[in-house]
Amino acid sequence: MTELRRLAKEESLPVYLVGGPVRDVLIGMPIRDLDFVVEGDAPGLADRLGKELGATVVRHEAFGTASLALPDGRVDLATARREVYPKPASLPQVTPASIHEDLARRDFSINALALPLFDDQPRVLDLHGGVEDIRNGLVRILHANSFVDDPTRVLRAIRYEQRLSFQMEPDTLSRLRDATGQMSLLTGDRLRHELERILEEKHPAPVLDRAAQLGALQGIHSSLTDTGAVGRLAPGQPVLVYLAALTYPLSSQEAEGMIQRLNMPGPWAEVVRHTGELKRLEPELSVDNLPPSSLTGFIERFSEQALVAVSRFSSSPLVAQRIERYLTEHRHVSPIFHGQDLLDMGIPAGPLVGQVLQELRDAKLDGKVHTEADERTWVLESLARKGQSADE
Ligand code: CTP
Repeated sequence: MTELRRLAKEESLPVYLVGGPVRDVLIGMPIRDLDFVVEGDAPGLADRLGKELGATVVRHEAFGTASLALPDGRVDLATARREVYPKPASLPQVTPASIHEDLARRDFSINALALPLFDDQPRVLDLHGGVEDIRNGLVRILHANSFVDDPTRVLRAIRYEQRLSFQMEPDTLSRLRDATGQMSLLTGDRLRHELERILEEKHPAPVLDRAAQLGALQGIHSSLTDTGAVGRLAPGQPVLVYLAALTYPLSSQEAEGMIQRLNMPGPWAEVVRHTGELKRLEPELSVDNLPPSSLTGFIERFSEQALVAVSRFSSSPLVAQRIERYLTEHRHVSPIFHGQDLLDMGIPAGPLVGQVLQELRDAKLDGKVHTEADERTWVLESLARKGQSADE
């Protein structure tokens, strides 16, 4: 920021710190990434800044933006722009414009704030009453069509309201309720991205609960209604753990529908599917005296993330405890004997080797063998039972 400020001052470049960081400084919250807007060529300015700081610059020429990855966070620079939405929920057409127009295109007054870097005594540029709304704790849209133009703002408004413990300004709230139906016009990728941002929050449960109350959770997918499992999780979990909790109540058909609608990438889809399968296995996983080998047989094919997730929010403490035990102990158990040891004992190469090894592992899991000598005896006895002999 110091370097950019020096460049801006020396050359009277119209550069502004904008949006989230200005809002967060005014609220007194820690700032994360820095967003700058320049009335002019942002990628060009980013290149010069990158050279001074020795940082790599990623340019997005078509959007007039560029970003720099610095040790203490990301810096984004954008050319000031106006946006026109050709139709509701479409991506806007953008053209270079003044900082005033750039602030006017934004989602909420609390984000439509800019701090000029080139002034000696910078004053916040606040054309939409954002400072007052921060003082009063209000989320307010800048114009009546805001949610219709961009229905992702429905979820963004709820996220800010809950994160900052603000309230929705009454007209904003009523327009938000009216616009939840427009969420169906969003592409799967955009909708998923907003869901991801909710799940990245430290406390996603209140955001999801409020979205459910306002009809916006069903805007993500019609089958989402029950957020109880998310509420059972401690704050700050990985996104996929929260995703598993959110989709835990769904039937397999509903889960498939949501996977398709949100165009989920492989790891997301896998967690959702595995979570559902695990839930349906819960009756088998809660029987009395379930041997560790059977438990392992039931669950070892599931991804670690789904297992961790279900162990954290399952409503059955026994299932949770068993999955945890599998993760910490059972999955690390393997016999001392390997395939080669069995071949060396004279067992013919073929499926029998794998079968004996599998059974030996089960025996070890269930505490029937411990030492190498136990394993040897167990193998010989198992072969005898199968009517095979080892040539020893
Ligand atoms: N913005 C917008 N409409 C959107 C998305 C973003 O007007 N649908 C604007 C807002 O002014 C926002 C800025 O673009 O402040 C940057 O977007 P983003 O990084 O999503 O917002 P932050 O406020 O930085 O969010 P967060 O605090 O969650 O990082």
